[in-house]
Amino acid sequence: MVLFDESVKERIEDFYDREQELEMFVKGVREGRRIIAVLGVRRLGKSSLVKVGLNVLGAPNIFIDVRKAYEEYGSISKIAVYTVFQEGLRKLISRSKWRSLIEKLKTLRGVKVAVLDVGVEVSLDWSSRGVRLVSILDRVDEWAGEMGERAVLVLDEAQYLRYSNINFRGLLAYFYDNLRNTVLVLTGSEVGLLLDFLRINDPASELYGRYIYEVRLGRFTREESVNFLRKGFAEYGINPPENVIKEAVEAFDGIVGWLVKFGRLCVDKGVSRERIEETFVEASKLVEEELGKLFARSVRYRYILEAVANGQARWSQIKKYVIARELKPISDKVLFELLQNLQKMGLVEKRMNDEGKLEYYIPDPVIKYIIAK
Ligand SMILES: Nc1ncnc2c1ncn2[C@@H]1O[C@H](COP(=O)(O)OP(=O)(O)O)[C@@H](O)[C@H]1O
Ligand SMILES: [Mg+2]
Repeated sequence: MVLFDESVKERIEDFYDREQELEMFVKGVREGRRIIAVLGVRRLGKSSLVKVGLNVLGAPNIFIDVRKAYEEYGSISKIAVYTVFQEGLRKLISRSKWRSLIEKLKTLRGVKVAVLDVGVEVSLDWSSRGVRLVSILDRVDEWAGEMGERAVLVLDEAQYLRYSNINFRGLLAYFYDNLRNTVLVLTGSEVGLLLDFLRINDPASELYGRYIYEVRLGRFTREESVNFLRKGFAEYGINPPENVIKEAVEAFDGIVGWLVKFGRLCVDKGVSRERIEETFVEASKLVEEELGKLFARSVRYRYILEAVANGQARWSQIKKYVIARELKPISDKVLFELLQNLQKMGLVEKRMNDEGKLEYYIPDPVIKYIIAK
């Protein structure tokens, strides 16, 4: 078991708890739910849950990291989609267990498959004369049916599909209506953006009225965080002082990804409360770039986050703060929209404070740390 391994978990032995969510996911696939959405802010273990779940199921799958594709190609262009899909397909049929899929695909125009000594090669012709993705999905679905298997297509961080000029909603609707042996799994960190993109409540949307089976991941409770750290340290025969555990649990606020990073640092450099600050510094490097992109879109996002991070967290306080920072007025409508966007991205959430008044807060302690700095 390696709880403090920072890569996406794949084996159930390395995956702490999440029993209910895992069971829900596995059940969803087994029952052949059409679209399963795995939702929750970054670093709660969505990708890990899906990978572990797929391993538990032993299901043939194509796993596509949409976010990575977006970052590599700068958009979700047709060539980007075909290239990552091709790679996912290659991985799938590289497993000897699923080789029989090759026969099904080979007869499609625009699909080339070669079995070489060094492995399998797949090439998809993405030109207009080439192969359409639905044709491939059809074949995979047919094949899964014949094999008595449930195939799974995963689109990890699917909210990035909104940057595509391919009609993905149409493709997903086709999926929903026609493919009986394949389940579509979407994960999303920016939950609001993903739901906006799917538009299941909009009569004009291709996905209107479709049912989405949701698996939501929350942060660990205090107790779960404590147990997670204890168990992780125990794997190295370390029994850390109570106060360090307590402080770390407080600091990382139930976000498992940051607990892992902290644990890793402690194992490598020795347990100490200084590792908490170091974790924040390291984690900041990961997050700062993303925030930079957001602030480039509108510096007002920065001011709003600053206000919230500094405890000016009620609507009127935020407004005052932004005006003071920017030295010009901001309308309620604009502020509302910006706050709405931040919530859709999962950067800000709403809650009742002790006086029963609505206030905003930043759910990710690392983002709060960067902003407050
Ligand atoms: N249940 C878990 N047990 C152990 N480690 C986990 C668990 N869930 C997530 N992790 C770790 O947390 C980090 C973030 O997980 P990841 O699956 O990438 O989250 P997400 O996809 O939600 O951003 C990774 O380092 C991963 O190994
Ligand atoms: Mg992920």
